[in-house]
Amino acid sequence: ARQIRSRLLELQNKATRYMHELLLSHPDAEHARAYLKGRGYGKEMAEKWEVGWMPGNPRMFLNWAKDAGFSGRELCGTGMASQKDEGNPRAGLYVRFRDRLMFPIKNDYGDIIGFSGRQLVEDKKSGKYVNSPETALFKKSRVFFGLDKARRAIGREKFALITEGQIDVIACHEAGLENTIGTMGTATTPDHARMLKRYTESVVACFDSDSAGHKAIAKIFSECAALGLEVRVATLPEGQDPDSLIKSQGVEAFRALLDKASGFFDYQIDHAILTSDLSQPVKKANLARDLAVYLKKVAEPVTRDSLMAHCATRLGLGLPEFRETLNRTK
Ligand code: CTP
Ligand code: MN
Ligand code: MN
Ligand code: MN
Ligand code: MN
Repeated sequence: ARQIRSRLLELQNKATRYMHELLLSHPDAEHARAYLKGRGYGKEMAEKWEVGWMPGNPRMFLNWAKDAGFSGRELCGTGMASQKDEGNPRAGLYVRFRDRLMFPIKNDYGDIIGFSGRQLVEDKKSGKYVNSPETALFKKSRVFFGLDKARRAIGREKFALITEGQIDVIACHEAGLENTIGTMGTATTPDHARMLKRYTESVVACFDSDSAGHKAIAKIFSECAALGLEVRVATLPEGQDPDSLIKSQGVEAFRALLDKASGFFDYQIDHAILTSDLSQPVKKANLARDLAVYLKKVAEPVTRDSLMAHCATRLGLGLPEFRETLNRTK
C-alpha cells in the first residue's frame, strides 16, 4: 500500500505541474488566464498556489498521463478519472475535471492529496466546484486548504483564521494574513477540530455572510468547544465572503472587521438581536435555550461558568433562571 501511495502522490504532483504549465502558456487556456485576471490575480498567485488548467477535452489529459507512464488504475486511484463502466474495462475512462481552474489541495506536510476545480464557464449542469472524491489520499473531513502554508503563521499569530473557500484563503494570504486556512465548504468535522488543536488554542471564523455560513459557525464552534478551543467570529456584510470584501472594500476594511471579531456567544446574541424581537418573552426564552445548548458544549468548566454569566447579563436574565434553563437542556 505504501508503494501505491507514493505513486498516487507522484501522479498528482506531475499532473499539477502539467496543468500549471497549461494555464500559463497553452493557447486554449486564454479564457482561464482572463478569468484569473478578472478576479484580480496574476501569474505570481498562480505560481505560489500552483494553480492549473484542466482542458475541456479529456483526451488531452489522458494522453499526457499515458505518455508520463501512469496507468488507468493509477488515474482512478487519484479520482482524477474513473471507469466509465465498472463491468467493462474497455469502455474507457471518464475524466472528472473538465475546463476548470485547478487548485491542488495539500496536507499539512505539503503533499498534494487532491484537487478542487472551479468552473470557468457557467454551466448549471455541474457544480461551481468539483473536488476530488474520497480516495486513499483525500479525506475531505480532514482537509484545510492552505494549512501547509499557514502552519508557521498560525503558531506566530496564536490563532487560525478560518474561511470557507480556497479563493478566500488565497485572498487573505495575499492581504498578509498568512494564518488563514479554508474548510472548503461548510461541513466541519471533529477531525478538523483535532487538527486545529495541534497548531493553536484559538480560531477566528470568517465564513460567508449567508445562512450556510451562519450554520457553519455553530458547527465549527461545537467541534472546537469540545476540545477547549476558543472560537471568535468575524462578521462580514450580508452576502460577502473574505475574497469579495477584500476586492470591493480593500484589505484595511477587512482587517478592521477581523479586529472587531466577537466571541461566539456575543456573535449569537448579536445575530438574534438583528433577526428576532427579543422584547417578546418567547423569543428571548428561545435564545436562552439555544445558548444553553452551546454552553453545554464548552468542555472547560471555569470558561463555561464565566460565559454563562456573560450570556445571562446580556440577556438581562437572573443567573439562577439561566442556570435552570441550562440544567433542563440536554
Ligand atoms: N464548494 C464545493 N462545491 C460547490 C460549492 C462550494 O466544494 N458546488 C466548496 C468550495 O471549496 C468553495 C467553498 O465550498 O470554495 C465555499 O463555497 P462558495 O462560497 O459557494 O464558493 P466561493 O469559495 O466563494 O467561490 P467563488 O468565489 O469562486 O465563487
Ligand atoms: Mn459560501
Ligand atoms: Mn464564498
Ligand atoms: Mn467567493
Ligand atoms: Mn440564527
